[in-house]
Amino acid sequence: MKIIPQGPKHGPAIERLLDLTFGHDRHGKTVYRLREAAPAVPSLSFVIERDGDVVATLRFWPVTLPNHEQALLLGPLAVLPELSGQGMGRAMVRHGMAEARAQGWPSVLVVGDPKYYEPFGFSREKAESLRLPGWVELPRFQAVELVPGALDGVEGLIRPGRPAKPAWARKAGA
Ligand SMILES: CC(C)(COP(=O)(O)OP(=O)(O)OC[C@H]1O[C@@H](n2cnc3c(N)ncnc32)[C@H](O)[C@@H]1OP(=O)(O)O)[C@@H](O)C(=O)NCCC(=O)NCCS
Repeated sequence: MKIIPQGPKHGPAIERLLDLTFGHDRHGKTVYRLREAAPAVPSLSFVIERDGDVVATLRFWPVTLPNHEQALLLGPLAVLPELSGQGMGRAMVRHGMAEARAQGWPSVLVVGDPKYYEPFGFSREKAESLRLPGWVELPRFQAVELVPGALDGVEGLIRPGRPAKPAWARKAGA
């Protein structure tokens, strides 16, 4: 399975896959409130293709922490149901988290199944002082620091993020 960067041609197929896996009412979820102000981080948007079709997608959105630092929100992550259980989901998360770290992002938040995300370092504890702009099942709201201490003492509401700079600009400190 080859994880490749998302390109402009993948957009409609990704939306179809997300409607299929999360349902058409997915835009009503709290996490979507955090995806409205800025696009997904282009350098952290991935797909897996099979016979020219998108069969898996993972993107990360920029969010703003209460201390005004930028962080990432992982997801949506989705795999075509008939191809589930083959390791695509975990491979996407592993790849995405490694890229997020390499691109210098200090922390990542997720709303998802703790059993699925704990192996990647996510914990409820790291998100305990943080709030989302709407209801979520609290045990599902987790965080991980990619830079140790990035979430120390950070308390309050998560807000939408700023459009992310491209990776080259981040590395150059531009
Ligand atoms: C969740 C999802 C991305 C997993 O992708 P996948 O390629 O099937 O996952 P993998 O093959 O890498 O991993 C399979 C493992 O994940 C577990 N798993 C699958 N879906 C899960 C879910 N929704 N919650 C928790 N665990 C899940 C399986 O039980 C399996 O566990 P095991 O290895 O202990 O048997 C995929 O099933 C999907 O798109 N689901 C619908 C959308 C969704 O719920 N996305 C996740 C949002 S947080």
